[in-house]
Amino acid sequence: MIHQLSNPVIKTLVNRLRETQTDALRFRHIIHELTRLLAYEALKTEKLEEEKINTWQGEQAFGFIKEEDLIFVTILRAGLPMIESVTALFPKASSGFLAMKRDERTHQSVLYYDRIPECKGKTVILLDPMIATGGSLCDAISVIKAKLPKKVISLNIIGSPEGMEIMEHKHSDVELFIAQIDEKLDEHMFIVPGLGDAGDRSYNTIEYFE
Ligand code: PRP
Repeated sequence: MIHQLSNPVIKTLVNRLRETQTDALRFRHIIHELTRLLAYEALKTEKLEEEKINTWQGEQAFGFIKEEDLIFVTILRAGLPMIESVTALFPKASSGFLAMKRDERTHQSVLYYDRIPECKGKTVILLDPMIATGGSLCDAISVIKAKLPKKVISLNIIGSPEGMEIMEHKHSDVELFIAQIDEKLDEHMFIVPGLGDAGDRSYNTIEYFE
């Protein structure tokens, strides 16, 4: 199920990412904010569990999301600002990392590093800012599903209609929350109008990897 968020705050932040004058620091900051907004939406029906805590009026029970049952997984490198943002919200959650590189000639994603904790019975929240062809995300979800999580949620900043279609086709059971679905992919499989390459924009490497 794909959920595109329509909140004007989200649209404003996404459109600021498109601007070339938005430098790497501000770019990562906006990614942090958008990731939190996506996480609030994705977890809005999550059950709260009673936990006894010490308060100024003594021990009392209050409801909390069970952070220990959440695993955040990101795809390096563009997903790094996203995982920083949500692990600051949920410091008891675990994190996992996948490294994938899209081959710019074949447009296929290649997995070259996999460090994901035990997922059985847990909610895995996958974080990647961009869904172009959808290849990286679909492959990442397959790697995660092999670890038998209870549920997989995907949080994404920007995507293409083509990427959404392949996600619906291959992983329709995944709840995908995205800030913006753009018009199309161009002949180089870049999202149009898009925002460039989120990894390069976040880490000032545009001139190196063009
Ligand atoms: C980008 C992006 C996704 C992938 C999307 O990463 O962060 O992981 O491309 O493309 P796809 O949907 O066609 O698979 P990239 O390979 O540019 O690596 P980076 O994070 O190091 O910039």
